[in-house]
Amino acid sequence: MNVKKLAGEKAVEYVRDGMTIGLGTGSTVYWTIRKLGELVKQKELQIRAIPTSQQTSDLANELGIPLETFAQSTEVDLTIDGADEFNSSLDLIKGGGGALVREKLVAAASNRLIIVANESKSVEKIGKFPLPIEVVPFAWEVTAKRIEGLNCVPTLRRVNGCPYVSDNGNYILDCSFGYIENPAKLDRTIKLLPGVVDTGLFISMADTVIIGTTNGLKVLS
Ligand code: 5RP
Repeated sequence: MNVKKLAGEKAVEYVRDGMTIGLGTGSTVYWTIRKLGELVKQKELQIRAIPTSQQTSDLANELGIPLETFAQSTEVDLTIDGADEFNSSLDLIKGGGGALVREKLVAAASNRLIIVANESKSVEKIGKFPLPIEVVPFAWEVTAKRIEGLNCVPTLRRVNGCPYVSDNGNYILDCSFGYIENPAKLDRTIKLLPGVVDTGLFISMADTVIIGTTNGLKVLS
């Protein structure tokens, strides 16, 4: 059973005609976007969408989903996105796909955030997944040292030996903190460091998590 497809497609049931939808990034929300594309093509649904990455923008364009930017609308009715970890308070770690800054901006502009995931992302305490932190390339080594001082091991994300560059032209440090006792406090502390653009901690942002399991769907709200 494809549990990502199960969760991804379920989220489409929350989408209504006329909505502006934030489209997340990743292999689970891929199934949401594909399903939305089908409905738009069959003229069963009329939506506009704001993508959280170039990758999602390309997919939505390919599927014929009309896109808009914040120049047209600063309010998003509903965002559907994936996550790398979630706990029972619906706090998240995101950014495994490198889109955390736009994902957070779109989520923050949304009236509702639905996360689609599989059971392997469910944790008691977040932090086992290395926390992605987007940093300005200039002096990234200094920023990494400051982050290291918060008791973690930061690793510069690389692709084929070169630094990974986000859609915003920045680098990403994957930071192994181990279990994070107070995610909200850590998020605030990291964001005060010069050079940090944002963190993959999404605290009190998600309203619902749709979880695909081999026994069917679970929904947390
Ligand atoms: C991208 C993300 C993704 O939503 C997250 O990595 C989950 O992706 P997937 O559904 O492929 O496991 O945060 O920046």
